[in-house]
Amino acid sequence: MDIFRVRGNGPLKGTIAISGAKNAALPIFAATLLTEEPCIIDNVPNLSDVRSMLDILGRLGASVTQESPHRWRIEAKKIGHTAPYELVRKMRASVCLLGPLVARCRRAEVSIPGGCVIGPRPIDLHIKGLRKLGCAVEIENGYVNVDASKLSGGPIFLGGRHGSTVTGTANILMAAVLAPGETRLEGAACEPEIVDLCIMLKKMGAQIEGVGSPELIIQGVAKLSGCEHSVVPDRIEAGTFLAAAAITRGDVTITGIPPRLLGAFLDKCEEAGLPFELTENSIRVLPYEGNLNPIDIITLPYPGFPTDLQAQMSALMVVTPGLSILTERIYPNRFMHVPELQRMGADMAIEGSSAIIKGGARLSGAPVMASDLRASAALVIAALAAEGTTWIQRIYHLDRGYEDFEARLRALGADIERLSDKDLPKEYWESAEA
Ligand code: EPU
Repeated sequence: MDIFRVRGNGPLKGTIAISGAKNAALPIFAATLLTEEPCIIDNVPNLSDVRSMLDILGRLGASVTQESPHRWRIEAKKIGHTAPYELVRKMRASVCLLGPLVARCRRAEVSIPGGCVIGPRPIDLHIKGLRKLGCAVEIENGYVNVDASKLSGGPIFLGGRHGSTVTGTANILMAAVLAPGETRLEGAACEPEIVDLCIMLKKMGAQIEGVGSPELIIQGVAKLSGCEHSVVPDRIEAGTFLAAAAITRGDVTITGIPPRLLGAFLDKCEEAGLPFELTENSIRVLPYEGNLNPIDIITLPYPGFPTDLQAQMSALMVVTPGLSILTERIYPNRFMHVPELQRMGADMAIEGSSAIIKGGARLSGAPVMASDLRASAALVIAALAAEGTTWIQRIYHLDRGYEDFEARLRALGADIERLSDKDLPKEYWESAEA
């Protein structure tokens, strides 16, 4: 297994281009199943999750061709309706195949993905939405079985205890675009990745009003056509690089991303006193004297502060003197990074669904375990500011969502190497096996 060795190496400097968003690319690939015509998808990040999704599309019968490193052609002339456990278990997001299979095949059998380290990941709202669209849904032997022979539009409220659901909205939207009649979807997720999916569906001939709002009105059409679409830039990748720049007091410009996608994140950076400059399509973080200010964050659905940047922001607040409080409203237990940051010297505690940080710690390198995608990124960020060497294990989590992470950080001056766990110093071997 691969590991990272990171040594604090002073301020990051330079420019970095942001990739296409993983969380937009996955439902967009699922949407290519809605038509028998070819779809060309551009600005696709090269990630293990994306490869898993392409693998599933191929197994369902679609022809999948890579036209260039970030550009794919999918042609789903004839497809099956079953997504089996051995494929779905590799990636939770494959549940977003439900909507397209229901719409295209009027039948779907999709394995239920199961839990995940960041907390329970129920799909009750997806099922509720499908039932409102006239589907008969049963859970049997670990599968969601859907009979959509009576698929038809209707009114649906899709909000849940934690607010809207991103993948649930994608699923219901993709089922509704080919469902006869009108679907009025209230409580829809407004994330830029959902907006991007709507833009693609409209290019395919879908009729959707209210894009970007919590109320989507969809008039079902009989058929959709192929299209060409470029995936929206990854706001979470952008926020991660900005936090890395900030913790090293670096001077880093990220390009290819409109700052409006990072509204709540930049608002908190401003509150923290981090100097930055914006253009229409770039964000530059500047070096600062003294210290940043502590902040108080609550994660919320878009346009609120994204849960997917909570761990990275925690790393920054750990070295920022004063009391910071980061509260999770999306995944109340998403704090797996906390014990690992504590091993590096962070003074923080979990209280209910909040992380309380007594900031200003001097971090020191240690062997640490990555537990999930964003926690891995938080550990790298902390390691960039730590004295000595940090060894990060289980970085396959990070490879799910960040393309060429270490090479791009190295281009900014970071001292980070991908090694094998055999290179881990002997005294740490035991923790590698735990
Ligand atoms: N929820 C329900 N019932 C449902 C669906 C969701 O109660 O049927 C709850 C969840 O338990 C959670 C909240 O609603 O508390 C939001 O979940 P949502 O469905 O929006 O999450 P998701 O679609 O499964 C996507 C991203 C996640 C990101 C969340 C929140 C993808 C592939 N994944 O997950 O990304 O954290 O939205 O923004 O789009 C990541 O990239 O690291 C990641 C975990």
